[in-house]
Amino acid sequence: MKIAVIGTGYVGLVTGTCFAETGNTVTCVDIDINKVEKLKSGKITIYEPGLEQLFERNLKQQRLFFTTDLAEGIKDAQIIFLALPTPPGEDGSADLKYILKVADDLGPLLRSFSVIVDKSTVPVGTAERVRDRIAANAKVEFSVVSNPEFLREGVAVEDFMKPDRVVIGTTSEKAKKVMEQLYAPFVRQGNPIIFMDERSAELTKYAANSFLATKITFMNEIANLCELMGADVDAVRKGIGTDSRIGKRFLFPGIGYGGSCFPKDVQALAKSSKDAAYDFKILNAVMDVNASQKTKLIAAIKHYFKNSLEGKTVAVWGLAFKPHTDDIREAPALENIESLLSEGAIVKVSDPEAMENVKTIFGSKIQFCENPYEAAKDADALFIATEWPEFRTPDFEKLSTLLNNKAIFDGRNLYDLQQMRELGYTYYSIGREVINGK
Ligand code: UDX
Repeated sequence: MKIAVIGTGYVGLVTGTCFAETGNTVTCVDIDINKVEKLKSGKITIYEPGLEQLFERNLKQQRLFFTTDLAEGIKDAQIIFLALPTPPGEDGSADLKYILKVADDLGPLLRSFSVIVDKSTVPVGTAERVRDRIAANAKVEFSVVSNPEFLREGVAVEDFMKPDRVVIGTTSEKAKKVMEQLYAPFVRQGNPIIFMDERSAELTKYAANSFLATKITFMNEIANLCELMGADVDAVRKGIGTDSRIGKRFLFPGIGYGGSCFPKDVQALAKSSKDAAYDFKILNAVMDVNASQKTKLIAAIKHYFKNSLEGKTVAVWGLAFKPHTDDIREAPALENIESLLSEGAIVKVSDPEAMENVKTIFGSKIQFCENPYEAAKDADALFIATEWPEFRTPDFEKLSTLLNNKAIFDGRNLYDLQQMRELGYTYYSIGREVINGK
């Protein structure tokens, strides 16, 4: 099939490359000339495990093309994906200006029946708005379909190639057939394509992300309760996760969820609920709890240093919002660094992928260290913000010679309590007993 993908950001590039991989001819369109030139010359613009190999192969096989020209990009395309940004506006709702602008431009360019697919996360009713904007200028038949993505950063290629499910919102039989054919290679293993109407598909994306954010937040509140009641959240997590109705995944407490999706989508769903005159109380609570959860260890650090962090050096391990990415959007590490600095602390950081991105925010206000041990050297405490695998089994002997105090504040529950006790560390984590606390 001939496919166009408008927008070569994270979602667009993964989508375009993966569709090329199953034999389609894909042209990706972007207004950013530099980006398009880079991609054309074989340089990938995002870090995502496994993507580069697919990108290079499909470029070489001439199944993957890039252009800044919309008319050229959609020429002969049967399916046109819109993978454009929907940043939160000032009131928290998703801003549709990029999508609607492309819809305006597309109308006069369509030459034969085309399926236009909303891939971006967009509020309920967007497919209808896109349809109206295209229809204002179109001379041929077309359908607008909602096909939300459920890609996790770090495993996006795997999620795309072997999805748990594909959700397709369309009320057009003709569009349904086209989409079914396109996705057939991805659901061979028996995972379903779930067809529904456009509005339900749009809401499905928000419901999925908001549910997962709620699940994490519920566990974070249980963890907070464990601390007050002398229970252990790890035990409680295992105790409830083995109930198949609850499930083991997304039950890990920590210093809050971050990233480019959960915070934005929870906020957008709360806002569109409000616009629909519905007070979605749980979502408001989720946002409140997550905001306070992010910096909850700061109180413990302050307590440990008798209420003053002035002149204390804190090493921060992990900056990315989660492991295996350089993405720092809404990363809990950032707010914690902000708090530590405002309390007068000196901050030394280390992260395997995200340091360059953090430099653009904090510059010389913090010290960037080559590796975790360098960050720990002469630090008065260690703070863990991201569960990178390399932080899981550090050389504790070495660490104790580097740190001024054997004090760890762990926002990701990486270490075994008994081991911390035996090694003589002061150890604060989330929802578990404090070891050697002051
Ligand atoms: C998410 C959704 O999973 C994906 O389907 C959607 O399309 C985009 O948003 P992503 O943002 O890449 O993907 O991250 P994910 O792996 O889902 O983690 C989100 C956040 O939740 C991270 O901050 C992570 O640290 C946190 N988290 C996750 C927890 O705090 N505890 C958990 O048990 C799981």
